[in-house]
Amino acid sequence: MKNPSPLTNILIPLFLLLLLFLLAPSASRAARSSLSRGSSLSVEKYSDILVSPSRSFTCGFYNVGTNASFSIWFSNSANKTVAWTANWDRPVNGHGSKISFWKDGGMVLADADGTVVWSTNTSSTLADRVLLLDTGNLVVQDPSGKILWQSFDSPTDTLLPTQPITKAIRVVSAAAPGTLSSGYYGLYFDNDNVLRLIYDGPEISSIYWPKPDYSVFQSGRTTYNSSRYAVLDEMGKFVSSDKLAFNASDVAPGILRRLTLDYDGNLRLYSLDESKGTWSVTWEALPQPCLIHGLCGRNGICMCMQSKVVCSCPPHYEMSDPSDWRKGCKPKFHMSCNTNSFLELPRTDFWGYDLNYSESTSLEACKKTCEEDCSCEGIHYGSGSGECYSKSSLFNGRASPDTPGITYLRIPASISTSASSAPQMHEPICNAGDSEATASSSNMYANSSRKTRWVYFYWFVSAFGAIEIMFFVSGWWCMFRWEQKPTSLEEGCREVSSQFRQFPYKELKKATGKFMDEIGRGGSGVVYKGVLDDKRVVAVKKLGDAIQGELGAEMSLIRRIYHKNLVRIWGFCSEGPHNLLVTEYVANGSLDKHIFGEHGTACVLGWSERFKIAVGVAQGLAYLHHECLEWVIHCDVKPENILLDGEFEPKIADFGLAKLSKRGGVGSDISRIRGTRGYVAPEWTTNLPITTKVDVYSYGVVLLEMVKGIRVSNLMVDEEEEVEGTLKSFVRMLKGKLESGDESWVEEIVDSRLNGQFNCKQAEKMLEMVVSCLEEDRNKRPTMDSVVHTLLSYHDEPSSQEVQL
Ligand SMILES: *[C@@H]1O[C@H](CO)[C@@H](O)[C@H](O)[C@H]1NC(C)=O
Ligand SMILES: *[C@@H]1O[C@H](CO)[C@@H](O)[C@H](O)[C@H]1NC(C)=O
Ligand SMILES: *[C@@H]1O[C@H](CO)[C@@H](O)[C@H](O)[C@H]1NC(C)=O
Ligand SMILES: *[C@@H]1O[C@H](CO)[C@@H](O)[C@H](O)[C@H]1NC(C)=O
Ligand SMILES: *[C@@H]1O[C@H](CO)[C@@H](O)[C@H](O)[C@H]1NC(C)=O
Ligand SMILES: *[C@@H]1O[C@H](CO)[C@@H](O)[C@H](O)[C@H]1NC(C)=O
Ligand SMILES: *[C@@H]1O[C@H](CO)[C@@H](O)[C@H](O)[C@H]1NC(C)=O
Repeated sequence: MKNPSPLTNILIPLFLLLLLFLLAPSASRAARSSLSRGSSLSVEKYSDILVSPSRSFTCGFYNVGTNASFSIWFSNSANKTVAWTANWDRPVNGHGSKISFWKDGGMVLADADGTVVWSTNTSSTLADRVLLLDTGNLVVQDPSGKILWQSFDSPTDTLLPTQPITKAIRVVSAAAPGTLSSGYYGLYFDNDNVLRLIYDGPEISSIYWPKPDYSVFQSGRTTYNSSRYAVLDEMGKFVSSDKLAFNASDVAPGILRRLTLDYDGNLRLYSLDESKGTWSVTWEALPQPCLIHGLCGRNGICMCMQSKVVCSCPPHYEMSDPSDWRKGCKPKFHMSCNTNSFLELPRTDFWGYDLNYSESTSLEACKKTCEEDCSCEGIHYGSGSGECYSKSSLFNGRASPDTPGITYLRIPASISTSASSAPQMHEPICNAGDSEATASSSNMYANSSRKTRWVYFYWFVSAFGAIEIMFFVSGWWCMFRWEQKPTSLEEGCREVSSQFRQFPYKELKKATGKFMDEIGRGGSGVVYKGVLDDKRVVAVKKLGDAIQGELGAEMSLIRRIYHKNLVRIWGFCSEGPHNLLVTEYVANGSLDKHIFGEHGTACVLGWSERFKIAVGVAQGLAYLHHECLEWVIHCDVKPENILLDGEFEPKIADFGLAKLSKRGGVGSDISRIRGTRGYVAPEWTTNLPITTKVDVYSYGVVLLEMVKGIRVSNLMVDEEEEVEGTLKSFVRMLKGKLESGDESWVEEIVDSRLNGQFNCKQAEKMLEMVVSCLEEDRNKRPTMDSVVHTLLSYHDEPSSQEVQL
């Protein structure tokens, strides 16, 4: 063999280089953003894709196993997150399928055998090109640029910024993550012009958002605007014609977002981190996932435990289909007309399917109504005012410490005598997780608590026993479950992301100019104003010695808390002796300065602001108490901890720190526990466990102070008297007046500095709330959720001035 000549030695690399040059443009030409008439994309060719000019979106064939779909996905998401699919529910073959832009103007998706699976219906039009725009919209245009067809008009489970939802559109969830077929959840404008979420399953259909327990107006929506139009803008702000509005927690331009109706029935707004390809949740419709219908099927009970959704069957019931919770539970006994015993499930409710409703009924009478009706499967009984609901079917079950009332399931007498096992939930306590405090608060209950624990344990075993037995019996099913269920249910309570981080001490020292600008001083520390490098104005709180233990651990909870009426927490610093909290800076200072202000009458806080603050504070507390996360109790609600922004929107400060503060043992000096004299509920001084109702009490005091414009401690006529005693007799007086039915007294109570410029209906309602929030018996106090809804129903009352006109 001849050695290659020096010439060929040079020529071959040259040739290869030339080849590279020739191929490179053709490779980049494959990443085009438009199709012209007569061209097509085939499923086999990986390079047969359209890419939007900014490269954010890609359109082409998306493969699921041997099936394929014609889809648009986010180019930079790690797992090819699909934003739109043409042939949702009708996959084509992963070999031989083709999307063609025909010469007659139609764009057609054909399966391997040539059947047309989907088309744009633009044949015989002037359609000239197909373009993938930077918004993620795929459009068919005529030569003048007029849009003849667009993917934005037929969304699947996702809406993109600038893509409106209108009366013709229904967004439908996927059946399972990663699949491209429809599930049971829908987002749509209902006939009454309200944007709703519905569970539309094989057995039942029910609307679960906005909360079906409340009227449209109580939910802050309206039925009056029939334009039925809602859209998310590029900043992350969503506005709907029914007055629904929300903002992403990271409002800013230039972020890729999607609003997706997830397979678990929750509507979530996501932001893409383009460097990592991961998504974070920046808003969700239902932070409390058990309010979503259809999760646990007929007779099933949904619980949110440790931030995970858990389904279970009531005692004496078992899963209908061990592989699918949506099929629910079936009784292990035969239900008949003679089934006349009841099994008690406290704090459990099954939404809907009420046969009959009556008020002021005794439990016995309520059970009797059910016994007399063969179709009655159980009752829900609210002990407060004797509300009795008899149920024809048990759907949408949920149990949580805040679920009011008790459900009684109808079971045969023969089995009711065997050990009853009821779902027993932990009371949320301020020091949740702090074993010392838990132990001390249950001292008095040594007897009952042992029983409680036993019942709880029993419940736990009975609820999860079925699952555990299945694990042992059949390994395959166990694996199946691990793959299918935990992931699909866990996401229910996934955290809303924020730009939360840990700050180095040096950075905070610099931001605050070595802690020069002191803006406040409170029980938990001194607060300084500062400016971060990114120009954000922040408040930095130096947590004093009151702090115990690791700050970082506490932060895992705090970082997940996000609500417009809670001070936004940006991060923390924990370095040696330095424990600092970095929060948003709220411009207008705390509420006490505005209601007890030294500003003189000229600056007195107007009525509408007061009402707005009352509603906002209630909403913030309701979020802490009732939304998924852990149940957070503030424990120190007072005007000093309510900050006001430029528009007098209240923001509650100092939440989530209860766990950190040192709490004295049982019966210890009240000044040592968290809480402030005058605002603390009576149970603080007893051994009763602390529940969310302590905040309800303190809220009642703040509400009273807002109406009257003075501190309750200044109500005292007699120097000798205790503030608690004064408050008690004042509330008794209010109660008497409210019962009198006459309204003229309201004016005497309301802050005289308002010169009569207030809304009488609202004031009366607020005083009514004061009376019920300050009930000695905490069980009689309302929940924050119900306070919010009562107040909101008086939101649109015309002001007294308007009435006079
Ligand atoms: C492919 O599509 C068929 C028909 O719709 C479906 O039954 C099958 O489960 C799909 N396969 C995959 C892997 O998604
Ligand atoms: C095209 O028209 C057919 C029949 O009217 C309809 O079923 C189909 O949904 C239309 N396709 C699109 C993409 O609008
Ligand atoms: C109704 O909704 C549309 C679209 O959001 C809005 O432009 C319009 O101003 C609303 N009309 C009224 C009377 O609020
Ligand atoms: C969203 O942010 C804008 C200001 O950027 C504010 O005016 C509006 O009230 C916010 N909406 C909600 C629902 O928080
Ligand atoms: C992508 O999907 C895989 C498998 O489902 C998963 O393990 C991984 O965490 C996902 N990656 C991202 C960034 O979501
Ligand atoms: C509802 O119950 C009441 C008694 O509690 C009874 O008088 C009434 O007839 C019942 N209504 C229906 C529709 O069953
Ligand atoms: C505990 O139970 C026993 C018997 O049931 C009773 O005698 C005793 O008084 C109870 N103790 C308390 C603290 O309730």
